[in-house]
Amino acid sequence: MMKDGLPKTVIQARLRRSRERLLEPPVLVLGCLSMEDMDDYPDSFRQRNEWIMGVQSVSLALGNLMLAAAHEGLGTCWMCAPLFAADEVHRALGLPKRWEPLALLSLGYPAEEGASSRKPLEEVILWM
Ligand SMILES: Cc1cc2nc3c(=O)[nH]c(=O)nc-3n(C[C@H](O)[C@H](O)[C@H](O)COP(=O)(O)O)c2cc1C
Repeated sequence: MMKDGLPKTVIQARLRRSRERLLEPPVLVLGCLSMEDMDDYPDSFRQRNEWIMGVQSVSLALGNLMLAAAHEGLGTCWMCAPLFAADEVHRALGLPKRWEPLALLSLGYPAEEGASSRKPLEEVILWM
């Protein structure tokens, strides 16, 4: 953030928010992708799509976990931060080499109730 030229106050506020998000929840679930059981292709087009398929699979699993948690009255928050700090995550948790950390879910009873605002559906759906 310093390299990006962000003001010190903004950096400090973001760090504070991150620390709260990472340290306050009782449980953190880290979704990782391993390509070990996926297909290998000789060309980068299909190989990239196979990787995207893996990303989609991990995302679906975490999404289902979020729905199950909500059903139990638990709150979750999705964080893609591990994508930007994969080496640190590997070092801190001793993950298997081929596990790619994709997303972190915090899990716990929500401190506050209520849904946040959403764009109207007409703005984000294209009906055909
Ligand atoms: C794909 C994705 C990645 C996100 N990554 C982060 C993250 O790394 N750190 C963070 O503080 N919030 C992240 N967020 C935002 C929170 O998950 C959450 O959406 C945000 O706090 C707003 O809450 P709301 O979705 O209930 O409005 C991410 C959201 C999405 C959809």
